[in-house]
Amino acid sequence: MKSKFFKPVAILLFVVFMVSPCVFAGEVEVLHWWTSGGEAKSVAVLKDLLEKEGHTWKDMAVAGGGGGAAMTVLKSRAVSGNPPTAAQVKGPQIQQWGDEGVLTNLDDVAKAAKWDKLLPGVVADVMKYKGHYVAVPVNVHKINWMWANPEVFKKAEAKIPTTWAEFETAAKKIKAAGYIPVAWGGQNWHKATVWESIVLGVGGAAFYKKTLVDADPKALGSATMVKCFNTLRMVLKYIDKNAPGRDWNLATSMVIQGKAAMQFMGDWAKGEFKAAGKTFGTDYIAMPVPETSNGYLFNVDSFIMFDVKDRGAKKAQKAMARLIMEPKFQEVFNVNKGSIPCRLGMSRAPFDFPAIYSFDTFEATASSGALLPSMAHEMAVFPAIRGAMFDVVTNFCNSSISSSKAAKNLAAEVKSAM
Ligand code: BGC
Repeated sequence: MKSKFFKPVAILLFVVFMVSPCVFAGEVEVLHWWTSGGEAKSVAVLKDLLEKEGHTWKDMAVAGGGGGAAMTVLKSRAVSGNPPTAAQVKGPQIQQWGDEGVLTNLDDVAKAAKWDKLLPGVVADVMKYKGHYVAVPVNVHKINWMWANPEVFKKAEAKIPTTWAEFETAAKKIKAAGYIPVAWGGQNWHKATVWESIVLGVGGAAFYKKTLVDADPKALGSATMVKCFNTLRMVLKYIDKNAPGRDWNLATSMVIQGKAAMQFMGDWAKGEFKAAGKTFGTDYIAMPVPETSNGYLFNVDSFIMFDVKDRGAKKAQKAMARLIMEPKFQEVFNVNKGSIPCRLGMSRAPFDFPAIYSFDTFEATASSGALLPSMAHEMAVFPAIRGAMFDVVTNFCNSSISSSKAAKNLAAEVKSAM
């Protein structure tokens, strides 16, 4: 026999079930710069996971690789007292936002999921402000990659280079065969991305650390830095004249379409090859930037969460932080994005060769001392110093100033930015 309470209790449960998403769910407005084909496909994974939990994703995508434009928008939103719920912010800038006192403490989420055990120390430290988690890491990108179209190399009878001398031999043949040797983008960060890989290769890991992490003016103005600029000057001989203003992903397309032979770019470029349906090993290959096989320039994407009043938004924000670190997101997102998970102990089975190579070199360089933060991608120095470095490299690329003048300018400009 049914109890007389059955009907009211059932109705009550039904009502609670129906309204619960409204009570416990909320909206996250997410500011990010993942707008290329591969990037958009990757970030959609997070949106789907959040929406499955009843939350709403308000997309605040600001186009512009490297995130310069997104950071400008973020600052103006924050200054006007209207920050988004979450924003893609990396490296030392997390500390600067921490200093502003506007971030949410994520320790409860981190403690519940044991982030301290799941993250490499080098990553966890960057996510904390005064010992408390204020950011959640998404991935680990490797910067010093060269993406190449094997067909173009074959047609030009050129060999895939492992040194800068081999690069020049190959580039000459590729140019003579009617192809563009190097696909180049117009943004300052793109130039800095290539330059920092040259600094790692030509100068070595200790020199990279002294110059692009410690910003030591003596090393910045040294003869070794002159050599690095000489190498950059040589590479610039092999780009095309339409490079100014070109986006990084359009440069990747030139390699995909067989118009250019190679691109020096972080492994988010792999996301573009994948999104275009290309197969690794036949349609494209990847090698370390010449002379950098012993080093790993890392770039960790992350989100900071702003202190918001709305209870629903708070819930959604914490759910986003939790989901980002869960294995499902770490796997699907990183397979699409070209990066590797920042969460330790993940299975390598779903990942392809460039990612496996990245896993291996991340571990090997962590113990050799050649695991180094990317300057170009905001992991190494504060924005003012990075800006000074970008200015000198951009000016070098856009003019014919000598390498020794560039090294001198570099030392002087970084010193005055300190
Ligand atoms: C970010 C990547 C992004 C790339 C190009 C880098 O700074 O870390 O996630 O794909 O810029 O937009």
